[in-house]
Amino acid sequence: MYKKSIDDPAGFWSEIASEFYWKEKWDPEVYTGNLDVTTGPIKIEWFKGGSTNICYNALDRNIETGNGDKIALYWEGNEPGSDVKLTYNELLEKVCQLANYLKHVGVKKGDAVVIYLPMLMELPIAMLACARIGAVHSVVFAGFSAESLAQRIIDCKPKVVITANAVRRGAKAIHLKDIVDNALTESEKSGVPVGLCLTYENHLAMERGATKWQDGRDIWWQDVVPEFPTKCEVEWVDSEDPLFLLYTSGSTGKPKGVLHTTGGYMVYTATTFKYAFDYKSSDIYCADCGWITGHSYVTYGPLLNGATVVIFEGAPNYPDAGRSWDIVDKYKVTIFYTAPTLIRSLMREGNEYVTRYSRKSLRVLGSVGEPINPSAWRWFYNVVGNSRCPISDTWWQTETGGFMITPLPGAWPQKPGSATFPFFGVQPVIVDEKGNEIEGECSGYLCIKRSWPGAFRTLYGDHERYETTYFKPFSGYYFSGDGCSRDKDGYHWLTGRVDDVINVSGHRIGTAEVESALVSHPQCAEAAVVGVEHEVKGQGIYAFVTLVDGVPYSEELRKDLISTVRKQIGAFAAPEKIHWAPGLPKTRSGKIMRRILRKIASRQLDELGDISTLADPSVVEQLIALGDS
Ligand code: WT7
Repeated sequence: MYKKSIDDPAGFWSEIASEFYWKEKWDPEVYTGNLDVTTGPIKIEWFKGGSTNICYNALDRNIETGNGDKIALYWEGNEPGSDVKLTYNELLEKVCQLANYLKHVGVKKGDAVVIYLPMLMELPIAMLACARIGAVHSVVFAGFSAESLAQRIIDCKPKVVITANAVRRGAKAIHLKDIVDNALTESEKSGVPVGLCLTYENHLAMERGATKWQDGRDIWWQDVVPEFPTKCEVEWVDSEDPLFLLYTSGSTGKPKGVLHTTGGYMVYTATTFKYAFDYKSSDIYCADCGWITGHSYVTYGPLLNGATVVIFEGAPNYPDAGRSWDIVDKYKVTIFYTAPTLIRSLMREGNEYVTRYSRKSLRVLGSVGEPINPSAWRWFYNVVGNSRCPISDTWWQTETGGFMITPLPGAWPQKPGSATFPFFGVQPVIVDEKGNEIEGECSGYLCIKRSWPGAFRTLYGDHERYETTYFKPFSGYYFSGDGCSRDKDGYHWLTGRVDDVINVSGHRIGTAEVESALVSHPQCAEAAVVGVEHEVKGQGIYAFVTLVDGVPYSEELRKDLISTVRKQIGAFAAPEKIHWAPGLPKTRSGKIMRRILRKIASRQLDELGDISTLADPSVVEQLIALGDS
């Protein structure tokens, strides 16, 4: 199949695409011409001229083939014992009601809708409702601060923001609506007023009476949506019409609006889900929902296959570290997809939390978000999976839409820590600094040759940045931003980001974003942020700061700087360490030498390398001394 997918991508993918419903078939000539990434302007297109609807394919199509009474979603609440389930029929009804409501308030094809919801059923419902009417959803992770949310609202100018009043994670309640209120005040000040904030009352976390309210703008979901009809006509959209925007971090302070379109994304997420998890119709699938994973492998990929999905609202250590396996037993989960950071944190709690549960339903395990270290891999395999479930270590990105390098369970021998081989249609290459492809056993920059159906099409409002970031660094290829090595058997080993992006617990954070938050503090003159190894989170944020002249460094200031970052980006981006620096190592042209800062942060002091090109080499000594304090 792989060979066919490379030799004849058009034939390979159109055969698969034909299993879906298309209102109108695509034009085979256009479609084969646009996978090329060798010459600009880059314009990737798949199934061009075809019209379809991903919500129709995920719901109506499965109902028409007799699966209406099958469970589509199980929802497990933060508190053990709180749960809800929805069949495909019921899910479609809920989606249609919201879709009708959105149409009623004037949301039209192409309009943006921002979704700031925690892991409630309403999150996939909201995405699917937008897709049904051709609106473009933009989910903002509910861990982002008001300022980050505002920044995204200002960029995509939504007609509506959909949120919940609060969420409970573990013992903590987070008042999401307050965050949204602040974001909306901010966006209005910047000339982007949002007229409607549809708020779901998550009464288990907070009663509506306690929620701050702005009459005229704020509407309770429960007061309006259930009044609408449970049937809603589908808006047929072009294969290349936008489906969603998802903001992600890059190497500048401004987040990138990754834009995915409809047809190729649909075919790709469905196919990768099916093969990388060896999906069978009897499977019960449970996944962590962060970010793009919640789009491709909680909502679209699984539902397009008619799968049953378990979504979990809470925290994996509440009420204790066995909660994940409690959920596995409760729902007889067969495929369990999670992240290395979670595996490492549970590993530390001891095996009893795992072995207490039977887990005998498990068949396939999955990992995503960062390279999985072999010891975490082995624990996941031996302890969680009782040495009988293959692990799909799926390498992919927000930009790729779906899995790119991943095992096919059982199809080839695994190596702990290797994502193994490319998925159908994907041609990974490793290039050297000059952009030359290197063969055999090697290590370098991971790029992809020719495009694939799930690839993003542009950065919203900034096609130039799209080309410069992804296609210019190594001419003729899509550049992933990751380092990779290939062993003598051809297995791929991802080695982490090679750009200015830090991966903290699978959250992608741009060093520039953290730096700009730090320097917004009136006493901080300059900041340089690097990633350091962290036992549980994979990487932690380490910030060097110089202060405004005359300001003394103090414990209070340290806390203040950290809280500035939490406030501007979100708690997940808080630095582990603030390192006061009277001066930063700079070249004579003023460029900060991060290579040196990385070594100082990780205390690899004998590997500082050449520091003679620095404008003032003595700052290095000074920094090392202060790092010990
Ligand atoms: C970056 C993409 C893909 C969904 C979650 C993150 C790292 C992701 C793996 C893996 C090694 C991985 C890469 C990549 N990454 N999965 N299996 N092995 N590294 O999506 O926020 O777009 O981040 O996550 O560095 O570039 P994202």
